[in-house]
Amino acid sequence: MLAKILRQKFINFFVQKHNHKEIPSSSLIPENDPTVLFTTAGMHPLVPYLMGEKHPQGTRLVDIQKCLRTDDIDEVGDATHCTFFEMLGNWSLGDYFKKSAILWSYEFLTEELKLNPDLLCVSCFAGDENAKKDEQAAEIWESLGFVKNEKAEKNQKKRLYFYGKKENWWGPAGQTGPCGPDTEIFYYNGVNKQNPYEKGGPAENNQWVEIWNNVFMEYNKKEDGHFEELKQKNVDTGMGLERVTAILQNKKTHFSTELFQQKDTEKFLMEVLYEQMGINKAEITDSRTKSERIILDHLRAVTFIIGDQRGVIPSNTDQGYVVRKLLRRAIRHGKKIGINKSFCHILAQEFIKIYEDIYPELKKNEQKILTEMEKEEKKFLQTLEHGEKEFAKIATTLKEHNQNIISGRLAFRLYDTYGFPFEITKELAKENDLEIDEKGFKEAFDKHKELSKQGAEQKFSGGLADNSKEVTKLHTATHLLHQALRSVLGNHVEQKGSNITAERLRFDFSQTEKMTEEQIKEVEKIVNEQIQKSLPITFEMISVDTAKKAGAIGLFEDKYAQLGNKIKVYKIGDFSMEICGGPHIANTNELKNFKIIKEESSSAGVRRIKAVVGK
Ligand code: ALA
Repeated sequence: MLAKILRQKFINFFVQKHNHKEIPSSSLIPENDPTVLFTTAGMHPLVPYLMGEKHPQGTRLVDIQKCLRTDDIDEVGDATHCTFFEMLGNWSLGDYFKKSAILWSYEFLTEELKLNPDLLCVSCFAGDENAKKDEQAAEIWESLGFVKNEKAEKNQKKRLYFYGKKENWWGPAGQTGPCGPDTEIFYYNGVNKQNPYEKGGPAENNQWVEIWNNVFMEYNKKEDGHFEELKQKNVDTGMGLERVTAILQNKKTHFSTELFQQKDTEKFLMEVLYEQMGINKAEITDSRTKSERIILDHLRAVTFIIGDQRGVIPSNTDQGYVVRKLLRRAIRHGKKIGINKSFCHILAQEFIKIYEDIYPELKKNEQKILTEMEKEEKKFLQTLEHGEKEFAKIATTLKEHNQNIISGRLAFRLYDTYGFPFEITKELAKENDLEIDEKGFKEAFDKHKELSKQGAEQKFSGGLADNSKEVTKLHTATHLLHQALRSVLGNHVEQKGSNITAERLRFDFSQTEKMTEEQIKEVEKIVNEQIQKSLPITFEMISVDTAKKAGAIGLFEDKYAQLGNKIKVYKIGDFSMEICGGPHIANTNELKNFKIIKEESSSAGVRRIKAVVGK
């Protein structure tokens, strides 16, 4: 199991050799951050600490973080892109800087992983109006035998390139926050290993695969767009587990690695699927077609999102919409390669087996994953049926008018409103002797894409660091509410769910009966009293046992709050004590006032409250 060894080696290298503390992977769904749908990098959950908050585990951290990126979704199907991936990362929070970071990266790659140094090349930041050329990083690489490309002789290996902001600057995660120049490490995964520069460096030849990024987070991008130097100079790194596993296994693509092989038999997952479905596809050696790769990538991602500790299920909004889109795309590609029955659960079960040792939440949520997939598959097949009916109507109308071209607008409506895949519209058109105005469809599609991109940008704007004020306030208000509900209704009240936007909090809790007017008023009164008392909010790291004994409430299995054997507990004066990853405001008086705007049923035995502050 190379991936397993790689994970272990990475953690051991930084923990044992370089004195880092291992922290657990956070949820794929960021806590209390409505502007970002998924955790996209290991640094995401660490933003407060990169900005200067003291991390309870110290200044050197290492982890393996579950990540999901959907911006490259259309690239999935090639050799290197994935939506879900695991990021190996090490951090210095104002501790070591460029020199150690670079030396250790090189040491890990060449001595621990034994990659051939002649097949590595690196890039550094070329400089611009915001920050100067990173000669410092370049010098460190030079001390390791790398040579600037402009000085390189014809047969020079180990070259160093300078690129601009687009390539060699990382962050902030949203519109504002920690960021800085980076240095990227590439590995040549092409065939001409004697002469890897034959077709140029990483900018010219995509056989140079980026494997590791070291970001020197020394700036804070402000709302007005200017870059302010951070007092604390940090290192944030990220190495793609999938890509490096492929390289270590000498494969062209991660789809050919053990990460996509049945755990015990080592059969490729598509082969397992075809066998179980009785489909005869000879000679599956790995997943070759674009459709096969999309199916594998998307279903792995969906397994992880639904199976996450904060799992979400398919819906029409936010993360749920992404789950739906990934699932439907996988199902559609299944149809395309001749799979006509429900199949998602088969692959999900295999993924759970492959990953359960490292991510036990998958096994824990297995039933949920399988049920939700099955429901969505059924629903989508119905959608296809509706689409077919709609198509038949269109075809009849056209024929009645003696026409044979389906307009781009109608084809797009089938796609957009009925979720009807364009390829199927095309197939049906062919069967009915009709044509499609493909150009018109593409125009309608691009227009829609642009609009949703704008929407997504709005959603993503703000990022972790700058939306945080309103959200952080509501997060603190949620703790007050939780405790007040227990005081008024009793200690059976436990958190069943929480969702915070910049406008309001939503809190689900165990309680069978509807709350009375008086109870609602009483809860509001208690929370407002705590606000008026100007209580300070503090946290400490204590053992789970101590936390339980002290009567802390909250989710004891919350991985984010657990660091090592200790757990992070937030106190609001003496009023509330709750396990939580934070962040919180410093004093309750920042909330000004608290108001419940709705009390309703959420599901059997669970009530839901929506509330606002500072209005
Ligand atoms: N945050 C950096 C990245 O995601 C390491 O590439």
